[in-house]
Amino acid sequence: MLSPEMNERLTRVGPGTPCGELMRRYWIPIAPFAQLLENPVRKVRVLGESLVLYRNKKGGLGLIGDRCLHRLVDLQFGIPDDCGLRCPYHGWLFSETGDCIERPMEARPNQKMTRKLAGYPVQEMGGLVFAYLGPLPAPALPRWDLFVWPNAVRQIAINVLDCNWLQCQENTGDPTHSVWAHGHLFNYVLERKGDLERAQADGHTVHRRLEWGVGIKDLYAHTTDYGMEKGVIYSKELGAKEDRTDRHSTVIFPFYTQTGATGAPRSEYQIRVPIDDTHTLHICYQVYAAPPGVAAPKQDVVPWYAPPTHDEKGDPILDYVLAQDAIVWVAQGPIADRSQETLGRTDVPIVLLRRQLQEQIALVEQGKQPMNFFPDTSPEILYGRGSPPEDWTAPDWATRQIKLSQSFRMNYHKGFSRDDADRYGPAVGLVQELHRRIDEARQLAASNSP
Ligand code: FES
Ligand SMILES: [Fe+2]
Repeated sequence: MLSPEMNERLTRVGPGTPCGELMRRYWIPIAPFAQLLENPVRKVRVLGESLVLYRNKKGGLGLIGDRCLHRLVDLQFGIPDDCGLRCPYHGWLFSETGDCIERPMEARPNQKMTRKLAGYPVQEMGGLVFAYLGPLPAPALPRWDLFVWPNAVRQIAINVLDCNWLQCQENTGDPTHSVWAHGHLFNYVLERKGDLERAQADGHTVHRRLEWGVGIKDLYAHTTDYGMEKGVIYSKELGAKEDRTDRHSTVIFPFYTQTGATGAPRSEYQIRVPIDDTHTLHICYQVYAAPPGVAAPKQDVVPWYAPPTHDEKGDPILDYVLAQDAIVWVAQGPIADRSQETLGRTDVPIVLLRRQLQEQIALVEQGKQPMNFFPDTSPEILYGRGSPPEDWTAPDWATRQIKLSQSFRMNYHKGFSRDDADRYGPAVGLVQELHRRIDEARQLAASNSP
Protein backbone atom coordinates (compact mmCIF):
# COMPACT_ATOMS: atom_id res chain seq x y z
CA MET A 1 0.00 0.00 0.00
CA LEU A 2 1.14 3.54 -0.72
CA SER A 3 0.31 6.86 0.92
CA PRO A 4 -1.99 9.04 -1.20
CA GLU A 5 0.95 11.43 -1.73
CA MET A 6 3.23 8.66 -2.99
CA ASN A 7 0.46 7.37 -5.25
CA GLU A 8 0.24 10.82 -6.85
CA ARG A 9 4.00 10.97 -7.19
CA LEU A 10 4.24 7.65 -9.04
CA THR A 11 1.25 8.01 -11.33
CA ARG A 12 0.87 11.61 -12.57
CA VAL A 13 2.74 12.39 -15.77
CA GLY A 14 1.94 15.98 -16.79
CA PRO A 15 4.69 18.61 -17.24
CA GLY A 16 6.39 19.42 -13.94
CA THR A 17 5.17 16.33 -12.06
CA PRO A 18 7.86 14.04 -10.55
CA CYS A 19 6.97 11.02 -12.69
CA GLY A 20 6.30 13.22 -15.73
CA GLU A 21 9.82 14.61 -15.47
CA LEU A 22 11.23 11.09 -15.26
CA MET A 23 9.26 10.06 -18.37
CA ARG A 24 10.63 13.11 -20.20
CA ARG A 25 14.10 11.52 -20.03
CA TYR A 26 13.07 8.73 -22.41
CA TRP A 27 12.27 8.26 -26.07
CA ILE A 28 8.59 7.36 -26.06
CA PRO A 29 6.83 5.39 -28.83
CA ILE A 30 3.86 7.45 -29.99
CA ALA A 31 2.58 5.85 -33.21
CA PRO A 32 3.23 3.13 -35.78
CA PHE A 33 5.04 4.65 -38.77
CA ALA A 34 2.48 2.90 -41.02
CA GLN A 35 -0.21 5.29 -39.71
CA LEU A 36 1.69 8.19 -41.27
CA LEU A 37 1.59 6.44 -44.64
CA GLU A 38 -2.21 6.31 -44.37
CA ASN A 39 -2.45 9.94 -43.27
CA PRO A 40 0.70 12.07 -42.91
CA VAL A 41 -0.80 14.25 -40.16
CA ARG A 42 -2.06 12.80 -36.86
CA LYS A 43 -3.16 14.09 -33.51
CA VAL A 44 -1.06 12.65 -30.69
CA ARG A 45 -1.47 13.00 -26.96
CA VAL A 46 1.45 12.00 -24.76
CA LEU A 47 2.42 12.86 -21.15
CA GLY A 48 -0.57 15.17 -20.94
CA GLU A 49 0.44 17.27 -23.98
CA SER A 50 -1.68 17.62 -27.11
CA LEU A 51 0.54 17.51 -30.19
CA VAL A 52 0.47 16.88 -33.92
CA LEU A 53 2.75 14.35 -35.57
CA TYR A 54 3.37 14.83 -39.28
CA ARG A 55 5.49 13.67 -42.18
CA ASN A 56 6.55 16.51 -44.47
CA LYS A 57 6.62 16.28 -48.27
CA LYS A 58 10.29 15.23 -48.20
CA GLY A 59 9.58 12.43 -45.70
CA GLY A 60 10.94 14.21 -42.59
CA LEU A 61 9.04 13.80 -39.32
CA GLY A 62 7.88 16.53 -36.95
CA LEU A 63 6.00 16.68 -33.65
CA ILE A 64 4.67 20.11 -32.70
CA GLY A 65 2.03 21.77 -30.50
CA ASP A 66 -1.47 21.27 -31.87
CA ARG A 67 -2.77 24.90 -31.86
CA CYS A 68 -1.84 27.35 -34.60
CA LEU A 69 -0.29 30.53 -33.18
CA HIS A 70 -2.53 32.69 -35.36
CA ARG A 71 -6.11 31.91 -34.36
CA LEU A 72 -5.68 28.54 -32.70
CA VAL A 73 -6.88 26.13 -35.37
CA ASP A 74 -6.13 22.50 -34.56
CA LEU A 75 -3.17 21.56 -36.73
CA GLN A 76 -4.30 17.96 -37.08
CA PHE A 77 -6.00 19.37 -40.19
CA GLY A 78 -2.73 20.88 -41.42
CA ILE A 79 -1.09 20.50 -44.84
CA PRO A 80 2.41 18.96 -45.05
CA ASP A 81 4.92 21.20 -46.83
CA ASP A 82 8.52 20.64 -47.97
CA CYS A 83 9.91 21.56 -44.58
CA GLY A 84 7.05 21.70 -42.11
CA LEU A 85 3.31 21.79 -41.56
CA ARG A 86 0.96 24.54 -42.76
CA CYS A 87 -2.15 25.61 -40.93
CA PRO A 88 -5.20 24.94 -43.15
CA TYR A 89 -6.81 28.31 -42.31
CA HIS A 90 -4.32 30.98 -43.51
CA GLY A 91 -1.29 28.90 -44.37
CA TRP A 92 1.11 29.76 -41.56
CA LEU A 93 4.03 27.36 -41.80
CA PHE A 94 5.60 25.69 -38.76
CA SER A 95 8.94 23.90 -38.78
CA GLU A 96 9.71 20.74 -36.79
CA THR A 97 11.12 22.93 -33.99
CA GLY A 98 7.69 24.59 -33.64
CA ASP A 99 8.94 27.91 -35.10
CA CYS A 100 6.57 29.79 -37.39
CA ILE A 101 8.72 30.32 -40.50
CA GLU A 102 6.15 31.80 -42.89
CA ARG A 103 2.92 33.81 -42.67
CA PRO A 104 1.88 34.08 -46.35
CA MET A 105 -0.58 36.96 -46.28
CA GLU A 106 0.94 39.14 -43.61
CA ALA A 107 2.84 42.38 -44.35
CA ARG A 108 6.19 40.78 -43.55
CA PRO A 109 5.53 37.11 -44.26
CA ASN A 110 8.96 35.78 -43.36
CA GLN A 111 9.67 37.86 -40.28
CA LYS A 112 10.79 35.68 -37.40
CA MET A 113 8.33 35.44 -34.54
CA THR A 114 9.35 35.27 -30.91
CA ARG A 115 6.44 33.05 -30.00
CA LYS A 116 6.68 29.43 -31.04
CA LEU A 117 4.89 26.11 -30.62
CA ALA A 118 6.34 23.16 -28.76
CA GLY A 119 8.54 21.11 -31.09
CA TYR A 120 10.03 17.78 -30.09
CA PRO A 121 12.56 15.45 -31.74
CA VAL A 122 11.12 12.31 -33.37
CA GLN A 123 12.78 9.22 -34.86
CA GLU A 124 11.56 6.04 -36.47
CA MET A 125 12.87 2.61 -35.48
CA GLY A 126 11.46 -0.81 -36.29
CA GLY A 127 8.22 0.63 -37.65
CA LEU A 128 7.48 2.76 -34.58
CA VAL A 129 7.81 6.54 -34.24
CA PHE A 130 9.50 7.64 -30.99
CA ALA A 131 9.40 11.14 -29.48
CA TYR A 132 11.57 12.80 -26.87
CA LEU A 133 9.86 15.47 -24.76
CA GLY A 134 12.65 16.22 -22.29
CA PRO A 135 15.49 18.71 -21.89
CA LEU A 136 17.90 18.92 -24.83
CA PRO A 137 20.21 17.53 -25.99
CA ALA A 138 18.17 14.39 -26.46
CA PRO A 139 19.81 11.12 -25.43
CA ALA A 140 20.42 8.31 -27.92
CA LEU A 141 17.45 6.21 -28.96
CA PRO A 142 18.09 2.83 -27.32
CA ARG A 143 18.21 -0.05 -29.78
CA TRP A 144 16.24 -2.60 -27.77
CA ASP A 145 16.63 -5.98 -29.39
CA LEU A 146 13.12 -6.64 -30.67
CA PHE A 147 13.04 -3.34 -32.57
CA VAL A 148 16.15 -4.18 -34.58
CA TRP A 149 16.23 -7.98 -34.67
CA PRO A 150 16.91 -9.14 -38.26
CA ASN A 151 15.02 -11.71 -40.34
CA ALA A 152 11.63 -11.41 -38.66
CA VAL A 153 7.96 -10.66 -39.31
CA ARG A 154 6.41 -7.87 -37.22
CA GLN A 155 3.06 -6.31 -36.42
CA ILE A 156 1.97 -3.64 -33.95
CA ALA A 157 -1.26 -3.75 -31.90
CA ILE A 158 -2.52 -0.45 -30.50
CA ASN A 159 -5.16 0.16 -27.82
CA VAL A 160 -6.13 3.26 -25.88
CA LEU A 161 -7.04 2.23 -22.32
CA ASP A 162 -9.00 4.39 -19.90
CA CYS A 163 -6.65 4.07 -16.94
CA ASN A 164 -3.34 5.31 -15.61
CA TRP A 165 -0.19 3.80 -17.15
CA LEU A 166 1.13 2.37 -13.86
CA GLN A 167 -1.77 -0.07 -13.52
CA CYS A 168 -0.74 -1.60 -16.84
CA GLN A 169 2.95 -1.65 -15.96
CA GLU A 170 2.36 -3.13 -12.49
CA ASN A 171 0.81 -6.10 -14.21
CA THR A 172 4.25 -6.94 -15.42
CA GLY A 173 5.39 -7.37 -11.82
CA ASP A 174 2.53 -9.77 -11.25
CA PRO A 175 3.41 -13.33 -12.34
CA THR A 176 0.47 -15.03 -10.66
CA HIS A 177 -2.27 -13.04 -12.39
CA SER A 178 -1.74 -15.43 -15.32
CA VAL A 179 -3.27 -18.25 -13.27
CA TRP A 180 -6.52 -16.34 -12.82
CA ALA A 181 -6.89 -13.67 -15.50
CA HIS A 182 -5.54 -15.97 -18.25
CA GLY A 183 -6.50 -19.28 -16.62
CA HIS A 184 -9.67 -19.42 -14.52
CA LEU A 185 -11.24 -16.35 -16.13
CA PHE A 186 -10.34 -17.70 -19.57
CA ASN A 187 -11.87 -21.06 -18.64
CA TYR A 188 -15.07 -19.36 -17.44
CA VAL A 189 -15.34 -17.26 -20.59
CA LEU A 190 -14.80 -20.25 -22.90
CA GLU A 191 -17.29 -22.31 -20.89
CA ARG A 192 -19.95 -19.61 -21.26
CA LYS A 193 -19.27 -19.41 -24.99
CA GLY A 194 -19.54 -23.21 -25.30
CA ASP A 195 -15.98 -23.18 -26.66
CA LEU A 196 -14.17 -25.13 -23.94
CA GLU A 197 -14.13 -28.51 -25.67
CA ARG A 198 -12.69 -27.11 -28.87
CA ALA A 199 -10.05 -25.28 -26.82
CA GLN A 200 -9.14 -28.48 -25.02
CA ALA A 201 -8.73 -30.30 -28.32
CA ASP A 202 -6.51 -27.48 -29.63
CA GLY A 203 -4.09 -27.67 -26.69
CA HIS A 204 -5.20 -24.17 -25.67
CA THR A 205 -2.96 -22.23 -23.27
CA VAL A 206 -5.72 -21.96 -20.67
CA HIS A 207 -5.01 -25.43 -19.33
CA ARG A 208 -1.31 -24.83 -18.87
CA ARG A 209 -2.08 -21.64 -16.96
CA LEU A 210 -4.37 -23.46 -14.53
CA GLU A 211 -1.42 -25.70 -13.67
CA TRP A 212 0.74 -22.66 -12.88
CA GLY A 213 -1.36 -22.08 -9.77
CA VAL A 214 -0.35 -25.38 -8.16
CA GLY A 215 2.57 -25.74 -5.72
CA ILE A 216 3.68 -22.09 -5.42
CA LYS A 217 6.24 -21.76 -2.64
CA ASP A 218 7.31 -18.19 -3.16
CA LEU A 219 7.92 -15.35 -5.58
CA TYR A 220 11.22 -13.65 -6.30
CA ALA A 221 12.28 -10.36 -7.84
CA HIS A 222 15.58 -8.60 -8.33
CA THR A 223 16.96 -5.60 -10.19
CA THR A 224 18.84 -6.12 -13.47
CA ASP A 225 20.92 -3.72 -15.60
CA TYR A 226 17.83 -2.63 -17.51
CA GLY A 227 14.91 -3.26 -15.18
CA MET A 228 13.94 -6.29 -13.18
CA GLU A 229 13.61 -10.03 -13.37
CA LYS A 230 11.06 -11.93 -11.37
CA GLY A 231 9.24 -15.21 -11.22
CA VAL A 232 7.65 -18.00 -9.22
CA ILE A 233 9.34 -20.71 -7.14
CA TYR A 234 7.47 -24.04 -7.14
CA SER A 235 7.77 -26.87 -4.67
CA LYS A 236 7.01 -30.54 -5.24
CA GLU A 237 6.07 -30.79 -1.57
CA LEU A 238 3.28 -28.28 -2.15
CA GLY A 239 1.90 -30.16 -5.15
CA ALA A 240 4.01 -28.95 -8.09
CA LYS A 241 5.18 -31.62 -10.55
CA GLU A 242 8.78 -30.79 -9.60
CA ASP A 243 10.83 -28.27 -7.66
CA ARG A 244 11.42 -25.49 -10.15
CA THR A 245 11.71 -21.74 -10.73
CA ASP A 246 9.67 -20.20 -13.53
CA ARG A 247 10.94 -16.90 -14.84
CA HIS A 248 8.20 -14.47 -15.75
CA SER A 249 8.35 -11.78 -18.45
CA THR A 250 11.30 -9.37 -18.45
CA VAL A 251 10.80 -5.76 -17.35
CA ILE A 252 12.64 -2.97 -19.15
CA PHE A 253 12.40 0.28 -17.21
CA PRO A 254 10.28 2.39 -17.30
CA PHE A 255 7.33 1.04 -19.30
CA TYR A 256 8.28 -2.08 -21.28
CA THR A 257 7.81 -5.74 -20.63
CA GLN A 258 9.05 -8.52 -22.90
CA THR A 259 7.37 -11.88 -23.27
CA GLY A 260 9.08 -14.64 -25.23
CA ALA A 261 12.82 -14.99 -25.83
CA THR A 262 14.57 -12.66 -28.25
CA GLY A 263 14.97 -14.37 -31.61
CA ALA A 264 12.16 -16.85 -30.86
CA PRO A 265 9.31 -17.50 -33.31
CA ARG A 266 7.11 -15.29 -31.18
CA SER A 267 8.11 -12.56 -28.76
CA GLU A 268 6.61 -9.25 -27.85
CA TYR A 269 7.16 -5.95 -26.10
CA GLN A 270 4.15 -4.61 -24.30
CA ILE A 271 4.69 -0.87 -23.96
CA ARG A 272 2.59 1.24 -21.60
CA VAL A 273 2.80 4.80 -22.87
CA PRO A 274 1.20 7.42 -20.62
CA ILE A 275 -1.16 9.52 -22.76
CA ASP A 276 -2.12 11.53 -19.67
CA ASP A 277 -2.94 10.72 -16.04
CA THR A 278 -5.96 8.57 -16.86
CA HIS A 279 -5.27 7.15 -20.34
CA THR A 280 -2.64 4.77 -21.64
CA LEU A 281 -1.55 3.99 -25.17
CA HIS A 282 -0.95 0.25 -24.99
CA ILE A 283 1.36 -1.02 -27.71
CA CYS A 284 2.03 -4.72 -28.38
CA TYR A 285 5.12 -4.84 -30.56
CA GLN A 286 5.00 -8.39 -31.90
CA VAL A 287 8.05 -10.03 -33.46
CA TYR A 288 8.19 -13.46 -35.10
CA ALA A 289 11.84 -14.25 -35.80
CA ALA A 290 13.30 -16.89 -38.08
CA PRO A 291 16.18 -19.03 -36.82
CA PRO A 292 19.46 -19.37 -38.77
CA GLY A 293 18.96 -20.88 -42.23
CA VAL A 294 15.25 -20.02 -42.44
CA ALA A 295 14.14 -16.89 -44.33
CA ALA A 296 11.31 -14.86 -42.84
CA PRO A 297 8.73 -13.64 -45.39
CA LYS A 298 9.49 -10.05 -46.42
CA GLN A 299 7.50 -7.02 -45.26
CA ASP A 300 7.73 -3.55 -46.83
CA VAL A 301 6.13 -1.84 -43.85
CA VAL A 302 5.36 -3.01 -40.31
CA PRO A 303 1.54 -3.05 -40.26
CA TRP A 304 -0.60 -1.98 -37.31
CA TYR A 305 -4.02 -2.98 -35.99
CA ALA A 306 -6.38 -2.19 -33.15
CA PRO A 307 -7.57 -5.42 -31.46
CA PRO A 308 -11.32 -5.04 -30.79
CA THR A 309 -12.34 -4.83 -27.15
CA HIS A 310 -16.14 -5.13 -27.56
CA ASP A 311 -18.46 -7.19 -29.73
CA GLU A 312 -21.36 -5.92 -31.85
CA LYS A 313 -23.67 -5.99 -28.79
CA GLY A 314 -21.24 -3.79 -26.86
CA ASP A 315 -20.17 -6.62 -24.54
CA PRO A 316 -16.47 -6.96 -23.71
CA ILE A 317 -14.57 -9.57 -25.72
CA LEU A 318 -12.67 -11.62 -23.14
CA ASP A 319 -11.46 -14.71 -24.94
CA TYR A 320 -7.94 -13.51 -25.60
CA VAL A 321 -5.05 -12.67 -23.29
CA LEU A 322 -4.58 -8.95 -23.92
CA ALA A 323 -8.32 -8.27 -23.50
CA GLN A 324 -8.27 -10.06 -20.14
CA ASP A 325 -5.37 -7.90 -18.99
CA ALA A 326 -6.93 -4.71 -20.28
CA ILE A 327 -10.26 -5.25 -18.54
CA VAL A 328 -8.71 -5.77 -15.11
CA TRP A 329 -6.38 -2.79 -15.48
CA VAL A 330 -9.24 -0.46 -16.38
CA ALA A 331 -11.39 -2.07 -13.67
CA GLN A 332 -8.92 -0.81 -11.03
CA GLY A 333 -10.23 2.71 -11.73
CA PRO A 334 -8.87 5.74 -13.62
CA ILE A 335 -6.00 5.99 -11.09
CA ALA A 336 -6.02 3.09 -8.61
CA ASP A 337 -6.11 4.36 -5.03
CA ARG A 338 -3.19 2.38 -3.67
CA SER A 339 -3.74 3.71 -0.15
CA GLN A 340 -6.70 1.30 0.03
CA GLU A 341 -5.09 -1.91 -1.24
CA THR A 342 -4.09 -5.06 0.68
CA LEU A 343 -0.89 -6.56 -0.66
CA GLY A 344 0.15 -10.21 -0.25
CA ARG A 345 3.11 -12.44 -1.09
CA THR A 346 2.18 -12.45 -4.77
CA ASP A 347 2.89 -8.71 -4.87
CA VAL A 348 6.59 -9.00 -3.98
CA PRO A 349 7.73 -8.00 -7.52
CA ILE A 350 5.27 -5.10 -7.59
CA VAL A 351 6.82 -3.70 -4.42
CA LEU A 352 10.23 -3.79 -6.12
CA LEU A 353 8.81 -2.20 -9.26
CA ARG A 354 7.38 0.70 -7.24
CA ARG A 355 10.62 1.10 -5.32
CA GLN A 356 12.59 1.30 -8.56
CA LEU A 357 10.21 3.93 -9.86
CA GLN A 358 10.61 5.98 -6.67
CA GLU A 359 14.41 5.71 -6.86
CA GLN A 360 14.57 6.76 -10.51
CA ILE A 361 12.22 9.71 -9.94
CA ALA A 362 14.49 10.83 -7.07
CA LEU A 363 17.59 10.58 -9.30
CA VAL A 364 16.03 12.93 -11.86
CA GLU A 365 15.07 15.34 -9.06
CA GLN A 366 18.73 15.35 -8.01
CA GLY A 367 19.79 16.24 -11.55
CA LYS A 368 21.16 12.75 -12.23
CA GLN A 369 20.53 10.36 -15.11
CA PRO A 370 18.01 7.57 -14.57
CA MET A 371 18.24 3.92 -15.61
CA ASN A 372 18.22 3.31 -19.39
CA PHE A 373 19.16 6.90 -20.21
CA PHE A 374 21.98 6.72 -22.78
CA PRO A 375 23.37 10.24 -23.19
CA ASP A 376 25.49 9.90 -26.31
CA THR A 377 25.21 6.67 -28.24
CA SER A 378 23.22 3.56 -27.69
CA PRO A 379 25.08 0.25 -27.66
CA GLU A 380 24.53 -1.60 -30.94
CA ILE A 381 21.72 -3.77 -29.58
CA LEU A 382 20.38 -3.74 -26.03
CA TYR A 383 19.20 -7.06 -24.73
CA GLY A 384 16.29 -6.65 -22.38
CA ARG A 385 17.01 -10.09 -21.02
CA GLY A 386 20.53 -9.02 -20.09
CA SER A 387 22.55 -11.13 -22.53
CA PRO A 388 22.39 -12.20 -26.17
CA PRO A 389 19.97 -15.07 -26.67
CA GLU A 390 21.46 -18.46 -27.42
CA ASP A 391 18.74 -21.00 -28.03
CA TRP A 392 17.30 -19.46 -31.16
CA THR A 393 20.45 -18.12 -32.76
CA ALA A 394 22.55 -21.28 -32.53
CA PRO A 395 23.27 -22.72 -35.98
CA ASP A 396 22.25 -26.17 -34.74
CA TRP A 397 18.92 -24.97 -33.32
CA ALA A 398 16.87 -27.51 -35.22
CA THR A 399 18.83 -30.57 -34.22
CA ARG A 400 18.76 -29.48 -30.62
CA GLN A 401 14.97 -29.80 -30.73
CA ILE A 402 14.52 -26.68 -28.65
CA LYS A 403 10.97 -27.18 -27.41
CA LEU A 404 9.90 -26.52 -30.96
CA SER A 405 7.12 -28.97 -31.40
CA GLN A 406 5.73 -28.51 -27.90
CA SER A 407 5.51 -24.75 -27.90
CA PHE A 408 2.06 -23.38 -28.53
CA ARG A 409 3.50 -20.11 -29.83
CA MET A 410 5.42 -22.00 -32.54
CA ASN A 411 2.30 -23.37 -34.12
CA TYR A 412 0.40 -20.51 -35.65
CA HIS A 413 0.35 -22.37 -38.95
CA LYS A 414 -1.68 -25.07 -37.22
CA GLY A 415 -4.29 -22.55 -36.12
CA PHE A 416 -2.92 -21.91 -32.64
CA SER A 417 -3.06 -18.15 -32.69
CA ARG A 418 -6.52 -17.81 -31.25
CA ASP A 419 -5.71 -17.11 -27.62
CA ASP A 420 -4.22 -13.65 -28.01
CA ALA A 421 -4.56 -10.35 -29.89
CA ASP A 422 -2.31 -11.66 -32.69
CA ARG A 423 -5.36 -13.34 -34.21
CA TYR A 424 -6.63 -9.94 -35.38
CA GLY A 425 -3.26 -8.87 -36.81
CA PRO A 426 -2.69 -8.10 -40.49
CA ALA A 427 0.58 -10.11 -40.54
CA VAL A 428 -0.91 -13.39 -39.26
CA GLY A 429 -0.73 -14.92 -42.76
CA LEU A 430 2.99 -14.15 -42.95
CA VAL A 431 3.53 -15.50 -39.43
CA GLN A 432 1.83 -18.75 -40.39
CA GLU A 433 4.06 -18.98 -43.47
CA LEU A 434 7.14 -18.37 -41.30
CA HIS A 435 6.13 -21.04 -38.78
CA ARG A 436 5.50 -23.47 -41.60
CA ARG A 437 9.05 -22.86 -42.88
CA ILE A 438 10.52 -23.31 -39.39
CA ASP A 439 8.58 -26.52 -38.92
CA GLU A 440 9.86 -27.89 -42.23
CA ALA A 441 13.46 -26.99 -41.37
CA ARG A 442 13.10 -28.67 -37.99
CA GLN A 443 11.65 -31.83 -39.48
CA LEU A 444 14.37 -31.93 -42.13
CA ALA A 445 17.06 -31.58 -39.46
CA ALA A 446 15.40 -34.30 -37.38
CA SER A 447 15.26 -36.72 -40.33
CA ASN A 448 18.94 -36.02 -41.18
CA SER A 449 20.23 -36.45 -37.66
CA PRO A 450 21.64 -39.89 -36.77
S1 FES B 1 -5.50 30.10 -37.76
FE1 FES B 1 -3.71 29.19 -38.45
S2 FES B 1 -3.03 30.46 -40.04
FE2 FES B 1 -4.77 31.43 -39.30
FE1 LIG C 1 -1.47 -10.79 -18.41
